[in-house]
Amino acid sequence: MTDPLLRPLPADLRPETLALDAGLTINPATRTIQPDIAMSVNNLVTPGEGAFSAAGLGDIADEPYTYARWLNPTVRALETRLAALEGAEDALAAATGVAAIAGLFLTFLKAGDHLIISDVTYAGAAELARSILTDLGIEVTPVNLSRPEALRAALRPNTRLVHCETPCNPILRLTDLAEIATIAHAQGALVSVDSTLATPASTRPLSLGVDLVVHSLTKFINGHGDALGGAVAGRKELVARMRGRAGVYLGAAMSASNAWLILRGIDTFYPRMKQINDSAGRIARFLETHPAVERVIWPGLPSHPQYELARRQMDLPGGVIAFRTADPQAMARQLAHRLRVAHYAFSLGHQRSIVTLLDTEEMIEGTYRLSGEALEDYRRFAGDGLFRLSVGLEAAEDLIADLDQALTT
Ligand SMILES: Cc1ncc(COP(=O)(O)O)c(C=O)c1O
Repeated sequence: MTDPLLRPLPADLRPETLALDAGLTINPATRTIQPDIAMSVNNLVTPGEGAFSAAGLGDIADEPYTYARWLNPTVRALETRLAALEGAEDALAAATGVAAIAGLFLTFLKAGDHLIISDVTYAGAAELARSILTDLGIEVTPVNLSRPEALRAALRPNTRLVHCETPCNPILRLTDLAEIATIAHAQGALVSVDSTLATPASTRPLSLGVDLVVHSLTKFINGHGDALGGAVAGRKELVARMRGRAGVYLGAAMSASNAWLILRGIDTFYPRMKQINDSAGRIARFLETHPAVERVIWPGLPSHPQYELARRQMDLPGGVIAFRTADPQAMARQLAHRLRVAHYAFSLGHQRSIVTLLDTEEMIEGTYRLSGEALEDYRRFAGDGLFRLSVGLEAAEDLIADLDQALTT
């Protein structure tokens, strides 16, 4: 859709500039240069224009902002900016990352279809696929997608979608997106990737052949821990299908106020990611030398088992570090008690550093249900439990000193 209020931009702007200017509209009445929040749920329509049933809604180019669950100007500004950052034709925003993932699954899969999903993904995606999609008659096969031969073996004539995550949460194992896309496309399946941990500052999955990129905007893209959001970006035709189905009927539309907060978060996205990645490198190298730490997993360390792939596929290694210690449960209690700068809490990608333990037994029993080789693969990264450290914007020296005193026994 070309919004008449959209400020025209020169071609070939760099991502750092697009993060500020893509999707920016100028209100002709006020001529303000910060985005407005359009809180209105509905806008005036001309009789005969638009459609009452969502089934009658067509291309958003032809539809005015009739009703905010379909399209809202502030949410649209965010979608335009996200599409620019991913190099996508279009994007659809949703209330949460999980809503974006659920919308993706419920748009492109139906009973009798087959989904291949990375056997380690964000827990919500894994549990949604295993418990809800299978109830709906969708066949689901979890596969370690860092092994292309495993994908080849799992593909079936009815495989419609291959969903991966790289680096995957929480073990930070990587997937070679170009290779996975080539294999899946040869079988006629779409490929989606949850790129929340990588972010567009690191990886541009669409340029590697992936069809749809998913984000939890709640994490690094908003970056301030104060708004939930999700998005899917890709070809116009695929995004339009999602908007017409899950976008409207799942009812998980993003609120205008959250879209505004996330737009403001994106203004500083690139400088934040640069500092976070610089600090993450210093902290990862420090943790490797700490006597209480048995293993550090970070895609920027030569000790990461897929370091070569990280260098090829990722411009930045990311702001999440995983590490292991002896007796992880006791260490979790110690960290929660002693940390003074970082916080012991769930989530990731905020301005404040966050640490949490992901206990292997709990993840395997509750979320992944892995066995055999898949379980061995998981344990090779996670051992009995993995601490996930999401690096924030504090001074790296302060974080290192804090972690040092909190980890020392
Ligand atoms: C990789 C990844 N994808 C998706 C989600 C879900 O996002 P949300 O909490 O915004 O629904 C998360 C949340 O932790 C995540 O880490």
